[in-house]
Amino acid sequence: MKYTLVIIALILVGTSEALIHTKKTFNHTAWGDQTFYYEYLPQGYGNGTKFPALIFLHGAGENANGPCTLTTLTKVTQNGGTPPYYIQNNIWPLDLPFIVISPQAPWGHGVENVEIAVRIIKEAYTANADLNRIYITGLSQGGGAVWNFLAANVNNGLNVAAAVPICAAATPSSSSQYTTIASASVPIWTFHAWNDGSVNITTTTIAWVNGLNAAGLTPTIKFTNFSSGGHGIWQHVYETNKTVNVNNYIYSWLLGYSRGSTGSTTSTTGPATTVSTTSTTSTTGPASTTSTTGSGSTTSSSTTGSNCPAVEPQTVTMFGNCTCTCH
Ligand SMILES: *[C@@H]1O[C@H](CO)[C@@H](O)[C@H](O)[C@H]1NC(C)=O
Ligand SMILES: *[C@@H]1O[C@H](CO)[C@@H](O)[C@H](O)[C@H]1NC(C)=O
Ligand SMILES: *[C@@H]1O[C@H](CO)[C@@H](O)[C@H](O)[C@H]1NC(C)=O
Ligand SMILES: *[C@@H]1O[C@H](CO)[C@@H](O)[C@H](O)[C@H]1NC(C)=O
Ligand SMILES: *[C@@H]1O[C@H](CO)[C@@H](O)[C@H](O)[C@H]1NC(C)=O
Ligand SMILES: *[C@@H]1O[C@H](CO)[C@@H](O)[C@H](O)[C@H]1NC(C)=O
Repeated sequence: MKYTLVIIALILVGTSEALIHTKKTFNHTAWGDQTFYYEYLPQGYGNGTKFPALIFLHGAGENANGPCTLTTLTKVTQNGGTPPYYIQNNIWPLDLPFIVISPQAPWGHGVENVEIAVRIIKEAYTANADLNRIYITGLSQGGGAVWNFLAANVNNGLNVAAAVPICAAATPSSSSQYTTIASASVPIWTFHAWNDGSVNITTTTIAWVNGLNAAGLTPTIKFTNFSSGGHGIWQHVYETNKTVNVNNYIYSWLLGYSRGSTGSTTSTTGPATTVSTTSTTSTTGPASTTSTTGSGSTTSSSTTGSNCPAVEPQTVTMFGNCTCTCH
């Protein structure tokens, strides 16, 4: 009887753990005056521990396409396989310690929008955030925004401890952009699929990787070239289940980096594995329902099946022949 009660109690505790994802606004004097964003606070938040922060920048499919409002902000949770999607759907692991900030862009993330996202952490979370561990990631348009933010000025790079641009839609425009990023010694792990039909890997990610290598960026940039997967590879990179996501578990990698007070970057997990532009193709998918090992052909965008997320942009091909159960 006692045991039964204990078990029932455990079940009740287990099922009561809904993750809290809150719509917030942040007033400022720049661009649009008000930023709309989602906030996720990790377990233990407010207990005196300083928590790391992760800024997530969505793709073009989640733009408000006009002024952002609390209503348009909902879109940010609707692209499958992203941190705000996982949080909203209660499949974000409780042991990930990040404060997660997911701002919405009206028409696209400009550099200023991203700088404001950093300000949000520094000003609204200063008591509970570890400002030496602000991380930034984004996909497609949002990945491009990560590059443009880092390339805009050295201070931007010094404000973050590591960055993960995914299938990033930004083409470098001058070699000074590489030296700017190299001057800030930003640890970067970038991902792109060789067969991305929406954003050309050569003119974007590979150009950044080669330019940053030439500029002597340290630590050496990590580049993972998916052999397939098309544009929608973020779901594999952001996959939170370590058993499934063996090769690309960015969360542990990010936490290995912290900005020292001098602006230098220290790795607490040893040097990151360096991946040259010619190695590391990953075909690891998040679930048995996605496969990269078939003919390599991708069918047209399919969002049939259970729990199929909207994809971004809406016209792109999902991973393989997606009967897509994200988890
Ligand atoms: C923030 O900006 C909104 C929109 O301009 C305004 O209504 C609100 O009063 C402002 N809040 C604060 C605390 O200034
Ligand atoms: C605060 O919460 C974090 C995460 O659960 C935990 O690791 C830490 O030990 C807690 N700190 C205190 C002082 O309770
Ligand atoms: C991508 O860009 C490269 C370099 O400009 C070009 O050679 C290649 O044809 C482009 N690929 C596609 C699929 O457009
Ligand atoms: C992670 O994936 C493994 C293998 O598919 C599965 O057995 C396990 O239940 C998953 N864990 C969570 C927390 O979903
Ligand atoms: C990326 O992977 C593809 C497919 O495996 C391969 O053909 C290509 O050479 C790789 N490119 C780079 C730059 O690593
Ligand atoms: C799509 O997936 C189904 C089920 O796994 C498989 O039978 C079929 O061959 C796949 N089609 C393609 C084009 O990969």
